[in-house]
Amino acid sequence: RQPDTTTTPGSDRYVVTAVQGVHDFGLRRFDGSAFLDPVTGKPVKTTSWGYDTSYLGPTIEARSGRPVVVTYVNGLVDAAGAPLAHHLFPVDHTIDGAGWDVPEIRLVPHLHGGHVAAEFDGNPLFWFSNDPKAAANGMGGPAGDRVQYTYDNSQEAATLWFHDHAMGVTRLNVYAGLASYYLLRDDAEAALGLPSGAYEVPLVLQDKSFNDDGSLSYASYPLYSTYTHGPLLDPKGNPMYSSGPETYGNTVVVNGVVWPYLEVEPRKYRFRLLNGADSRFFNLWLEVAGQGPQPGLQLVQIGAESGLLPAAVPLGDGPDDRGLLLANGERADVIIDFSGFAGKTIVLRNDAAAPYPMGDPANFNANTVGKVMQFRVTKPLAGADTSAVPAAPRAHAPLPEPDGTRIVDLQELSDVYDLYDPTQAPSAIPRHELRLNGLRFMDPITELPRLGTVEDWYIVNTTVDMHPIHLHLVAYEVVEKGAFDPLAYRPAAGGDMGVMAPNGFQKDTDPEGKHPADPGFDAAYAVAPTEAGLKDTVRVPPGGYVRIRARFDRKGVYMWHCHILAHEEHSMMRPFEVVAP
Ligand code: C2O
Ligand code: CU
Repeated sequence: RQPDTTTTPGSDRYVVTAVQGVHDFGLRRFDGSAFLDPVTGKPVKTTSWGYDTSYLGPTIEARSGRPVVVTYVNGLVDAAGAPLAHHLFPVDHTIDGAGWDVPEIRLVPHLHGGHVAAEFDGNPLFWFSNDPKAAANGMGGPAGDRVQYTYDNSQEAATLWFHDHAMGVTRLNVYAGLASYYLLRDDAEAALGLPSGAYEVPLVLQDKSFNDDGSLSYASYPLYSTYTHGPLLDPKGNPMYSSGPETYGNTVVVNGVVWPYLEVEPRKYRFRLLNGADSRFFNLWLEVAGQGPQPGLQLVQIGAESGLLPAAVPLGDGPDDRGLLLANGERADVIIDFSGFAGKTIVLRNDAAAPYPMGDPANFNANTVGKVMQFRVTKPLAGADTSAVPAAPRAHAPLPEPDGTRIVDLQELSDVYDLYDPTQAPSAIPRHELRLNGLRFMDPITELPRLGTVEDWYIVNTTVDMHPIHLHLVAYEVVEKGAFDPLAYRPAAGGDMGVMAPNGFQKDTDPEGKHPADPGFDAAYAVAPTEAGLKDTVRVPPGGYVRIRARFDRKGVYMWHCHILAHEEHSMMRPFEVVAP
């Protein structure tokens, strides 16, 4: 994407417009034939959203220290040019920020991983609409159909992405397609001689389900009425919908194409991987089609979210240690060397349970969601491969010991709504609600780091799921992971915050009393070499905790949340505010 560099000398300017379009996801039958509409016999079409395109968007390439100014426009209109009135998917009006009084079509973009001033961070409440008839956002968003954000890029080379973050419809807006790459580069990275140009490829990994007519499907469930013992109805008499606790698709989509292939040369490539899925984790490894994993065929991870790693980590090189685990919102910068595999078809595989890690393996289809994409090593080598895989991509000076410590926790509860279960009617399933510290989004802010200080956060997971926890603004160190004694730990109760007392919170002790140094200790409780660099999203294992360390160096209100998007919106997101020292 070419920027405008003249309007404001010294910075790159872009206009990025969210639009609705018709996208070719490459839907095919398993025999390779086109996917035809059963009624019209015509190839099916998929309506989706993207930034300046029908799905996802252009990659913005930026330089450390050089500002980028982006005007984001809400251009979501129908074929006649009128502002869209309704979302592509059922909107759940019972969750925070998604009441009947706000327009269904609302946007606010967030540069995920950006060290961004609070006013340009894309606070979920500051959404904007393009419908002049829609109620104005009384919560701080702009009146018109656009915002202009300045990113000063005051951070090192990193794999960033931008996506929509509007309160109460983030998961739907991202599922519709509003996500794209933002690659930040610097001289130190350039000096490494990594594969570049045509040999550097961003890969956005997602899962999706499609209806027979080609339209996208986002699973949602009718809410249950305890009065009628049937679906709860809205003021117009239609069933009210809720999204489920998680959403999983039955296909894998990479860069907007279902199960694609990429033709490659027998040489090294750099792939910038992003898990852009709603709820699905990917545990990635490579095999030669029909032959399984092969020696020398591996993913070598050189970077994570917020920069390059101190040491390159070979992954996927054996049956017991073959995975690159990538949770929602996480990125991995990896090298694959295809040089010994000319003529072969390489399959990128996935075997992460859904939900992770407790999902029933019997429900996992290795032939569908177990396959991500192919690399076909069919192209002739265009020239000698002079690129390098640096053993030590980038060293970081560790942050100093913290000025303060806080303990925050992840909880899984049920709320006042029930989901209608048509197979069991009249009957219902209690609806999950996930919370941070037992609080909801709109409760008063409880995390108030002082400007310039370094804090350690113990993020304690009292649930059975693994949650990828993301903090805006900061790039953090993962200092330690451990298990805690669930019988001794007292979860935070709503409203009872501040800096909590570590009441009975046992570091480094799991229910069986194992320590990370003990043989047989669960690897989920150890900081992996792939987490040794700077991160902005970290997996917190069930029954475990993660201690992260960050310097809070910009004032204002930012978000921290689970990046399983269905969790984030109900209600696993909280603001934190960096306050005057
Ligand atoms: Cu990727 Cu707060 O988000
Ligand atoms: Cu979560």
